[in-house]
Amino acid sequence: MKDNMYSPTATAAWSTLTSLAASMNSQTIQDFFHSDPKRANQMTLQVNELLLDYSKNLVSNEIFQQLLALAEQSNLKAHRTAMFAGEVINTTEDRAVLHAALRAEPEDTTSPEDLERNSLVKAQLEQMRLVSEKIRNGQWQGSTGKKITDVINIGIGGSDLGPKLACNGLNEYAHPDIKLHFISNVDGAEILSTLAKLNPETTLVALASKTFTTQETLLNAKTVIHWFERTLGLAQAQTSSHFIGLTANKANAVAYGIPESQILGFAEWVGGRYSLWSSIGLSIAISIGFDGFVEMLRGAREMDIHFQQAPLDQNMPVIMALLGVWYSNFMGAQSSAVIPYCERLLLLPSYLQQLDMESNGKATTLQGKATDYDTGPIIWGQTGTNGQHAFFQLLHQGTRLVPIDFIAAVKDGLSNEEHHRVLLGNMLGQSAALMTGQSAPEAEQHRYYPGNKPSNTLLIDRLSPKNFGALIALYEHKVFVQGSIWNINCFDQWGVELGKKMANKLLDDNLDRTTLDPSSQSLFEHIDRIK
Ligand code: F6P
Repeated sequence: MKDNMYSPTATAAWSTLTSLAASMNSQTIQDFFHSDPKRANQMTLQVNELLLDYSKNLVSNEIFQQLLALAEQSNLKAHRTAMFAGEVINTTEDRAVLHAALRAEPEDTTSPEDLERNSLVKAQLEQMRLVSEKIRNGQWQGSTGKKITDVINIGIGGSDLGPKLACNGLNEYAHPDIKLHFISNVDGAEILSTLAKLNPETTLVALASKTFTTQETLLNAKTVIHWFERTLGLAQAQTSSHFIGLTANKANAVAYGIPESQILGFAEWVGGRYSLWSSIGLSIAISIGFDGFVEMLRGAREMDIHFQQAPLDQNMPVIMALLGVWYSNFMGAQSSAVIPYCERLLLLPSYLQQLDMESNGKATTLQGKATDYDTGPIIWGQTGTNGQHAFFQLLHQGTRLVPIDFIAAVKDGLSNEEHHRVLLGNMLGQSAALMTGQSAPEAEQHRYYPGNKPSNTLLIDRLSPKNFGALIALYEHKVFVQGSIWNINCFDQWGVELGKKMANKLLDDNLDRTTLDPSSQSLFEHIDRIK
């Protein structure tokens, strides 16, 4: 049942998993450990410096085998080959999906087109090296001859979240004298309060937008241009050395006035939410250095190779994806939590929200039909231990099933032994308590912990650029595997268009408000009364 005929619900594995799910009430994760003393070992997988323990999941060996069978019976393998080969798998936008090509080496290429693409990527990387090094060593100067001390990345979605997460996550490696700022929201308070703290003479703006058409980014850019014009007396500040454009649409950036030599391009086949590996990642290279950026690519490439070559039962993204499918489609989970025990990964849940929910929040199959099964879950999370004092109550005693990914670095160069021991101890304590639960003393039901709450634990040796790259690529491939099983296009995002169109309509000066729905009309009236 391959290609056009494929539907996950029509596979033999889906039927078996449905029956297995029906008998889950009587089984606990602890039962699985009791019946298989080797479970902890067998359900632990190491890929370079990432270790995944998936033993605390609500899956027996039989369920796990059936999940693997589901992957075999899906189009996953063919789909994976097609993606890496550069086939047009994003059919609704008529595009190949080649973010992995941004981290490939010449030896990974298998065709003349691959090799040509690789040379293009290497040339773009070389431009990024030259620009980032000039900024880092003070050769890149503002219009009054001063070196750059502050870089503002203006972008939104994929043109913001990845670079912002990477710069925060890797701040152990940050340049000591250059501060990075990220402006995404069209909320003026964000940009105006940032500009109020900065010296325009030493500020550089990286205008990051794949399309160079995004409303929020262009309005924020306009505000910064006026700030430079007002403070430095520059005319057309976007033509000055204070601006760099990062885009797949060079023509638009040139039309905007950015000199061509200050535009770092990338290809259309890089999806916005996969673009931190491209020139959109310039802020990362400025912060941690170009060599660090290359290390990040190296870690991601190692995960790409693992994803392509490891058998399915030893394949980290595949296993994480299948566990997610089990909870979403067979156990009724509506959401999935990501809880990094590392404050520097505070933005990981937000990043994964875009990666996962913009990719798999779909209800149309690759054949253009409506799905009759659930797809991507709601992704949410917060760092531990902070979350323990906020929403963990619901995780332990609430009524919802929430599978969790706990993530931590085993060594932390920025912490000390005492803090780190307490941090990791808390994480392990929480995952164990969620699994084991606790009975309540007589007539004290409120002290009852049902337990049997599933989680993965992902341990990273240390949060180096290379391991960070591997971590992000791991989640990219996990999302891809789920999309392949659900038979949806992970790479378009038509669901964001209607809201954008509606906002533009409402912002039109000639809007006839009587054409709006009654709720919007009365909200407008309220705003007019108060403002
Ligand atoms: O509106 C969604 C989206 O298209 C994302 O997919 C993308 O990352 C973001 O907007 C920003 O787009 P751009 O980089 O073209 O400004």
